Amino acid sequence: MTTPTIELKPSSTPVSAAEREAVLASPGFGRHFTDHMVTIRWTEGRGWHDGQLVPYGPLSLDPATTVLHYAQEIFEGLKAYRQPDGSVAMFRPEANARRFQASARRIAMPELPVETFIEACDALVRQDIDWVPAHGGEESLYLRPFMIATEVGLGVKPANEYLFAVIASPAGAYFPGGVKPVSIWLSEDRVRAVPGGMGDAKTGGNYAASLLAQAEAAEKGCDQVAYLDAVEHKWVEELGGMNLYFVYGDKIVTPELTGSLLAGITRDSLLSVARDLGYTSEEGRVSIDQWQADTANGTLTEVFACGTAAVITPVGTVKSARGEWVQSGGAPGAVTMKLRDALLDVQRGVAADPHGWMHRL
Ligand code: PLP
Ligand code: COI
Repeated sequence: MTTPTIELKPSSTPVSAAEREAVLASPGFGRHFTDHMVTIRWTEGRGWHDGQLVPYGPLSLDPATTVLHYAQEIFEGLKAYRQPDGSVAMFRPEANARRFQASARRIAMPELPVETFIEACDALVRQDIDWVPAHGGEESLYLRPFMIATEVGLGVKPANEYLFAVIASPAGAYFPGGVKPVSIWLSEDRVRAVPGGMGDAKTGGNYAASLLAQAEAAEKGCDQVAYLDAVEHKWVEELGGMNLYFVYGDKIVTPELTGSLLAGITRDSLLSVARDLGYTSEEGRVSIDQWQADTANGTLTEVFACGTAAVITPVGTVKSARGEWVQSGGAPGAVTMKLRDALLDVQRGVAADPHGWMHRL
């Protein structure tokens, strides 16, 4: 595979420093975007070409572009953090690049070389470095690489043209309440993904499939949906945009990768962070019956969700057709918060990075 160079075509009208500072004072999540984006094209027979860093702006697509009809699309999410010395480092971009390749394979798209993925992220962050929030808080620059099928036509087949792009958005807390426990609706009928399907690919269709259950959860007063496996409707899988962890005293357990849930990079990192802190961490199976019974008998001490956007978020109230219960008294659990701080300390560059996860520009 060839690695295209990225030609710089900077914006002549970037957002003013005053406007940018106003956004950075309260970025929210996914509402504001930086001045530039990277685009790279792929054409059958030619491979990857036309790498460009251009002003952020609309894409022009023919109405018959295949992504609009058949959803051949994948994306990633990763963060760049301001370090104590003012430099900027990204958390595990290589892991995102590899997952992007796995998602591409699953929906018959070309694989972007890992080094090109990282170079595209580097180029954008380097250009828009003033958009990376200050060191010290929880804020970061969220990067959203994505790829869409751009062939024009209504035939159902893998496209012969694609557009890869990276955009960036300064990010504060994903949930407006900050680190306060989220409430979960445990869906026993709607499923997010099925064995042999594409639940382990980061493709837009999985998120579309989760929206109705998410809307139903909101009607029931819950923030998020937890999905069970699609065959037995028994084994806990994940949330619509986050993985789950169950804390049993000093052991943490996360649902094993069955093919129908996403292999989260935060999930994977926490298996190691927990061990570094002296906890036991493992992948396993947790049933909905166990979740309810172990909470009642006090062995399941905390539950939390994890993902790039939301980092680690404690789970508070759990509602389901079988009843309602509350984890760790509805307050953030001690193990949850210890893991959260340990991970954020590595990301913010105030703790050692024994696994070599931080990628400095
Ligand atoms: N599960 C789903 C469905 C997600 O969308 C995400 C978010 O990326 C995660 C889990 C967590 O993955 P990561 O930790 O790599 O962000
Ligand atoms: C992320 O955590 O990066 C996600 O992609 C979750 C959500 C914003 C889709």
